[in-house]
Amino acid sequence: MIYLDNSATTYIKPKEVINATLLGLTKYSANPGRSGHKLSMDTAMMVENVRQKMCKFLNAPQVVFTENCTDALNLAILGTFKEKGHVICTINDHNASVRPLFELQRKFGLEISVASPLNAGIITIDDITKHIQPNTYLICVNHISNVDGEIADIEAIGNYCKEKNIIFLVDCAQSAGHVKIDMKKMGIDLLALAPHKALYSPQGVGVLAYTNKAKLNPIRFGGTGTESENVYQPMGTVETYESGTLPTPSILGLGAGIDFVEKNFTEINEKIDDLSTYLNFELSNINGVKVYTHPNNAYGVIGFNILDYGSTDVSQILSDKYGICTRGGLHCAGLKHKFLGTLNQGIVRASLSYFNSFNDCQKLVKAVKHITKYGY
Ligand code: ALA
Repeated sequence: MIYLDNSATTYIKPKEVINATLLGLTKYSANPGRSGHKLSMDTAMMVENVRQKMCKFLNAPQVVFTENCTDALNLAILGTFKEKGHVICTINDHNASVRPLFELQRKFGLEISVASPLNAGIITIDDITKHIQPNTYLICVNHISNVDGEIADIEAIGNYCKEKNIIFLVDCAQSAGHVKIDMKKMGIDLLALAPHKALYSPQGVGVLAYTNKAKLNPIRFGGTGTESENVYQPMGTVETYESGTLPTPSILGLGAGIDFVEKNFTEINEKIDDLSTYLNFELSNINGVKVYTHPNNAYGVIGFNILDYGSTDVSQILSDKYGICTRGGLHCAGLKHKFLGTLNQGIVRASLSYFNSFNDCQKLVKAVKHITKYGY
C-alpha cells in the first residue's frame, strides 16, 4: 500500500521513535511520579526530559501531556471559559475546537463568532478583528488547515492578542513539524499539538503548552502523586492538569520524534515542499480534477475532487483498486467544508510525510487520471 494519509497520522515512524517507545515498555516502564523507588524516579526523569525538550522546541514556558490533541484543546477551551464571554474561532478550525466551544454556547450561552478568510483561504488579522467585542476573551485559530493546508497569520494575530490582553489559542495539530513554531515570538498563550502527525510520535499522547496569562483551570481531577491528603486538586504545577498515569512509552517516542524533526527539519520540509508542488501541479492539470489547495502551499496537504464523484467513493477506490491510502469526507472540519461548498461531496485528501517518495505521488496521479477517464 502507498500511504498518503499522514495528516490523519504518520504511518511510518523513524526507527529512533520505535526504539525510544520500546524503552518505555522495557527499561522505563515503571509509573513516573507515583513512587519513590529508583525505577519510578528514573522513568519520571525520562518523562521530564521530554517535557523540557518540548518546551525548548516550542519556546514554551510550560507543557503538559494530554491524551491527544482533542484532549489538549478541550483543556484549553473549557479551562479558560468565562461566563458572559465571547470567543472568535475560524472556519479552518477542527471539530476538536469547534465542538467544545459550541457545547459551551449550548450549555452556558457563550457567544461565538466564526471568522472566515477574505483572501485565498489565509486567515489574517483583519479577518479576526472585525469580530472583536468588548467581552472577547479568547481567539482560537487553527494554524494549518487539515483539509487544504491553508495557513493563518499567527504572528500578527498573536501581537494583537498581546496588545489587547486576549488569550490566544492555536491548534498546531497540522503545523508542528512542518513550520518552526516560537510560542513567545508568535504571542501564543495556549498551543495544542498532535505529536503523532508530523512529530512522528506514537499515538496516545497530546501536548498543551501554556503561559501564565492563560490562567488555565483543570478540567479533569484525580491522582497526581502529590498532596494526596488534599481532597482538592493541587494547583499551580503541571500535575494540576495531568491526573492519572501518563503514557510513558508514547512520551518517550515523542522525545525521539522531536530529535528526529529538529535534526532533519530542512531535509524533511524541502522534500514535502517538492512533493506537494509536484502533486498540486499534476493533479491541477488533469481535466475534470479540482484542486482546493493553493499552488504555493507546501505543507503536504493536497485536497482535490474528481468531477462530481463522492470523495469517500474515490478514496475507497484508490484504496481497493490502486492500493493508495487517502482520506475522503469532511475530515472532522465541517465549517471549512461549508465555506468551500463541499459539505455534500467532501474532498479527497492526500497528505505527505518525509517517508513518501516521488514514485508514491506519480502513482496517485496515474490513478486519478485513470479514474477521471474511465470512472470507477
Ligand atoms: N484530524 C485528523 C485528520 O485530519 C485525524 O485526519
